[in-house]
Amino acid sequence: MTDSSVAALHARAPSEARTRVWDLPTRLFHWALAVAVIGLIGTGLSGVMEWHFRLGYTVLALLLFRLLWGFVGGRWSRFASFFYGPGSVVAYLRGRAHPDHLIGHTPLGALSVFAVLAILMLQVTTGLMADDEISASGPLTRFVSGGVVSLATSWHKAQGKWIVIALVSLHVLAVLFYVLVKRHRLVRPMVTGDKQISAANGNVAASRDDAASRCLALVLFALCAGLAFWVASLRV
Ligand code: HEM
Ligand code: HEM
Repeated sequence: MTDSSVAALHARAPSEARTRVWDLPTRLFHWALAVAVIGLIGTGLSGVMEWHFRLGYTVLALLLFRLLWGFVGGRWSRFASFFYGPGSVVAYLRGRAHPDHLIGHTPLGALSVFAVLAILMLQVTTGLMADDEISASGPLTRFVSGGVVSLATSWHKAQGKWIVIALVSLHVLAVLFYVLVKRHRLVRPMVTGDKQISAANGNVAASRDDAASRCLALVLFALCAGLAFWVASLRV
C-alpha cells in the first residue's frame, strides 16, 4: 500500500463505512490513563505525595485492566490484533502495509503502545517499592530488602521518570504529526470510538461494544481496582 492510499484510508470519502474500532472501555481507559499519568508527573515533581500515591494506585488498576482487556476486549483492542512481526513494521515504514494493519494500531503505533504500557508498569512497580526516606514509602517496601528499595527508588526518580516523560511526549508528538502533517484522523476515534473505513477494505469486523461487553469491562475493572486497593492497604 502506498503513502497516498494510506492517507485515503484515513480521509473521509463517500464510499466509507463508520466502524467501531475503539470500544468504550478502551477509550475510558485511555483518557483516564492520560489524566492520571500527567497528574503523577506533576505530583511527583512537586512532592504532593498523598495524591501521587492515589493516582499511582489508579494507574495500577488501569494497567491491570488493560492487560485483561488485551485478551477479552473488543477486536481492535486485543493484543493479538496489533502484535506485529518485524516484517509488518518494515512493510509499514515502506508504505506497503497490509490494509488490515491500518485500522487499529498501526505496526509502528503498536510498538509505542507496548513500550508505553511496559514502562508505566515498571514505573508503578518501582513506585510501590520506593522510599524517599522522609515520609513517603511505597506499600511494598517492607516486603523487600533495603538494596531492592534503593534500586527501585533510584530507577523511579531517575531513568524511569525520564523515560516515562520522553515516551509520553513522543506519543503526543507522534499523534500530532499524524493528525497535522499526514492528515490521519486519529484523535476523534479515540473519543467517539468510530473510524471511517474505506469500502476498498471490504467488510471490516468492528469491535464489540455493546451493553454485555461494557458490563464485563466494569466487572473486570472492579476486580483490578479491588486488587490495587488491597496493595494500597499494605502500607503501614
Ligand atoms: C500521559 C498521556 C498519555 C498516555 C499515557 C497515553 C497512552 C496511550 C496508550 C497506552 C494508547 C493505546 C491505547 C490502547 O490500545 O489501550 C494510546 C493511544 C492513543 N492515544 Fe494516547 N496517551 C496519552 C495522551 C494522549 C493525548 C494527549 C492524545 C491526543 C492528542 C492521545 C491520543 C491517542 C490516540 C489518537 C491513540 C490511538 C493511536 C492509534 O490510532 O493507534 N494520547 N495512548
Ligand atoms: C506511572 C506511574 C508513576 C509515575 C509517572 C511517577 C512519577 C514520579 C516522579 C516524577 C517522581 C519525582 C522524582 C523526583 O524526585 O525527581 C516520583 C517520586 C516518587 N514516587 Fe512516583 N510515579 C508513579 C507511580 C508511583 C507509585 C504507584 C508509587 C507508590 C505507590 C510512587 C511512589 C513514589 C515515591 C515514594 C516517590 C518519592 C521518591 C523520592 O523522592 O525518594 N510512584 N514519582
